[in-house]
Amino acid sequence: MPPLFSAPALHRRRLLRHAAAFALVLLAVALLFLLLVHPRSLGTPSPSPSYGHRLPTLVDLTLVHGAKEKGAVCLDGTPPGYHWLPGFGDGSNKWLLHLEGGSWCRNRTSCDHRKKTSLGSSAYMETRVEFVGILSDDKAQNPDFYNWNKVKIRYCDGASLSGNVQDEHQYGATFFFRGQRIWEAVMAELLPKGLARAKQAFLTGCSAGGLSTYIHCDDFRALLPKDSTVKCLADGGFFLDVEDISGRRYMRGFYNDVARQQDLRKRFPGCSSDMEPGQCFFPQEVAKGITTPMFILNPAYDVWQVEHVLTPDGSDPQNLWQDCRMDITKCNTKQLEILQGFRKSLLDAISEFKKKRGWGMFIDSCFIHCQSMKSLAWHSPSASRINNKTVAEAVGDWFFDRREVKEIDCEYPCNPTCFNVVLEQPYQEG
Ligand SMILES: *[C@@H]1O[C@H](CO)[C@@H](O)[C@H](O)[C@H]1NC(C)=O
Ligand SMILES: *[C@@H]1O[C@H](CO)[C@@H](O)[C@H](O)[C@H]1NC(C)=O
Repeated sequence: MPPLFSAPALHRRRLLRHAAAFALVLLAVALLFLLLVHPRSLGTPSPSPSYGHRLPTLVDLTLVHGAKEKGAVCLDGTPPGYHWLPGFGDGSNKWLLHLEGGSWCRNRTSCDHRKKTSLGSSAYMETRVEFVGILSDDKAQNPDFYNWNKVKIRYCDGASLSGNVQDEHQYGATFFFRGQRIWEAVMAELLPKGLARAKQAFLTGCSAGGLSTYIHCDDFRALLPKDSTVKCLADGGFFLDVEDISGRRYMRGFYNDVARQQDLRKRFPGCSSDMEPGQCFFPQEVAKGITTPMFILNPAYDVWQVEHVLTPDGSDPQNLWQDCRMDITKCNTKQLEILQGFRKSLLDAISEFKKKRGWGMFIDSCFIHCQSMKSLAWHSPSASRINNKTVAEAVGDWFFDRREVKEIDCEYPCNPTCFNVVLEQPYQEG
C-alpha cells in the first residue's frame, strides 16, 4: 500500500503543526497577559473589562415619575433614576434589583461636592450604563440570572437610601436627605411593571448599595407575593466597626456624622439608645433583625475597606501604607499581620450569621471590591474561586438551593485563583 503521505508532505504537515502549536502558545501568553494586566485598570474609569460572548448591553436611564411631588429626590432636589433591562424567556417573571454604591457624605462640604456628581443629582447621571457581572444578559457571563428582569437603582441620597429628613434647609444650604422616600418611590414604580407578580426576586447591591441591601431586604420581601422566592445579596457591604491602624475608630466617627446629619436613629428603632448613632448603621447591627435569606459576599481584604476603614485619612502620617493599600503583594510582614487581624474581625462579626438557616456566604481571601459588578470577577476563567466555584456559581447554587454555600477561604496568600486588583490611584467611592 502506498504511504498516505509522502515524506516531504509529512514534513510539511509537521512544520504546520509546529507553527500552529507556536501560534496557540502565543495566543495563550497574550490571553494570560491580558487577564493579568487588565485588573490593574480596575481603579481607573477606563471602559470596563468584559468577559462573555459579546459587548455589554447598554441600558437607558429612567427618571422616577412624580418623584418631586412625593419629595423623593436626590440631594440636590432632582428626581432619582434607575435602568431597567426587561427579562425574556422564562426570566420574564423574575426580577433582580441592584442598588448602586458610592460611599456616603457626612458634612456640608462633602454633600455639597456630591450634589455636583451623579451620586447626588440625576442631572449628572450617565443616560446609559453597561450591564455587566450579575446584571449581564449574556449567559456566558451570568449563567443563572442572564434572562431575568434587571434593574440598576441609582444612588443619589448620600446615606444608603435610608434618610428621611422633612426640612431641606441644612446648615444654611439646601440638601434633600430623602433616601428612604427614594426607595419607596422606585418600588412603587417597579411593582406595576411586573415586580408585584415576580415568582422569584433578588435584591442585590454593592458597597454603600450593599449596606442598603441589608437595610431594605425585609422591606423588599414584604412587597412581594407570599409564595414567591425572595432573597438578598450584599456585595462588599459588610463594613466593620473596628479600630484603624492609628487606634481610632475612624469609620464609626464617619457613620456618626452621616447618622446625625440624616437623623437615622429613627430609621433603626431596634438600635439601643446607649449606642452611638453611627453604630446602628453598621451591617453587623442592621443584619441582626433580617429574617429574609441573605448572602454575604465579601472579600476578607476588601480594597475599599483596607483604604477607608483600616488606613483612613490621617491614620498613616508617614505614608507607610501607601503601596500596600494599593497592591497587596507590596505589604510587608507587619502589614500582612494587621490585614489578617482585619480578616479575623470580619469572620468574628459574621459568625452569628453563619448559623442562620438559609443564609449564604462567600468570603474569599482576595484583594478586590464589588465582585458581582465586574464581569471578570463575577464569572470568567480568571475569577476567584473557592472549592473551584466562581462567585456566580456559588451565588446561583445558594439562590436555587442546589447546595448549602457557606464558603470561607483560607488566609491570603493561600488561594492561587485570587483575582487581586492593583490600584493606580486610591479608591474615591465605595
Ligand atoms: C467633611 O467630610 C470630608 C470628607 O469625608 C472630610 O475630609 C472633612 O474633613 C470633613 N470636614 C469636617 C469639617 O468634618
Ligand atoms: C473546576 O471547574 C471546572 C469547570 O468550571 C472544571 O472544568 C474543572 O475540571 C474543575 N477542576 C477541579 C479540580 O475540580
